[in-house]
Amino acid sequence: MEKIQSALAKARAERGSVAAQPDRAAALPARAQTPAPTLDRAAVAAAVASQPGPQADVQAAWDALPALTLSPRTIKRNRIVALSGGRDATGIDMMRTRVLQQMRDNNWRRLAITSPTAACGKSTIALNLAMSLQRQPDLRTMLLELDWRRPSLSRMLGIEKNLHFGQVLAGTAGFADNALRHGDNLAIASNQTPMQDAAELLGSPKVPQILNRMEADYAPDLMIFDTPPMLVTDDMMAFARHVDCVLLVAGAESTSVKEIDICEQELASQTNVMGVVLNKCRYMGASHDYGYYE
Ligand SMILES: Nc1ncnc2c1ncn2[C@@H]1O[C@H](COP(=O)(O)OP(=O)(O)O)[C@@H](O)[C@H]1O
Ligand SMILES: [Mg+2]
Repeated sequence: MEKIQSALAKARAERGSVAAQPDRAAALPARAQTPAPTLDRAAVAAAVASQPGPQADVQAAWDALPALTLSPRTIKRNRIVALSGGRDATGIDMMRTRVLQQMRDNNWRRLAITSPTAACGKSTIALNLAMSLQRQPDLRTMLLELDWRRPSLSRMLGIEKNLHFGQVLAGTAGFADNALRHGDNLAIASNQTPMQDAAELLGSPKVPQILNRMEADYAPDLMIFDTPPMLVTDDMMAFARHVDCVLLVAGAESTSVKEIDICEQELASQTNVMGVVLNKCRYMGASHDYGYYE
């Protein structure tokens, strides 16, 4: 891990990026002429606050979501280790604490989880982070599937209902009909079938309005987006400006430092890169196979 961390630090230094600075977009010369349209959280919060549902309505909206129950087989087969606390959840719970701290400190609410290429563990980490957050009863969390070309959350959770979060963001279906509730405080919206026009949809001007509406109706503390891989299509970059921050998942044996560096640089032009999660680190032991560094 130290080796990768120092290789990343070197790559950042070489490109002149100041990774520790909060305003990363400003540090990137390549994008300096077209400043990143970063999300103005204060404006979004004000817009949401100006038309919030009353608390009772928010609670009713959560209560109305159909409940999702997971079978023990699904939990085991799909590595849902953070469902209940304990040793297996330690790595994810530590990640949760750090993510929450950074998000609260910055008044961020929307977190994207991405990776350079497929199969690095985005969905596994997004799902476990959501489960870990669900164990905090004072928080409301949403887990939202955006990897529409290779959707996997329905399969990983054993969801049979035909949920279609893509249609929600397209404005042709409602969130309430395309989400399930796990416990009292975690809403999950997945996509049952693949979609090919993802980049066009994710970049549509309707998207920010629909996300704002969801925030007004459900008042989530955190929205976690399980997003497409960055180096395969434009989908993630079409969406990046709608989130406050991003976690970049790297596969320990499949992702190169160069790939992480390219993604970090691209993302930093649109949003805040919170850190890199090194996943599938076998040598760290079964319960700590995630490494997180900034
Ligand atoms: N920490 C881990 N240790 C071992 N296998 C993992 C780990 N995280 C994910 N996997 C496995 O790797 C594969 C890809 O994971 P997935 O979360 O679907 O990746 P992505 O969403 O990035 O495509 C799955 O079979 C998953 O079970
Ligand atoms: Mg996935």
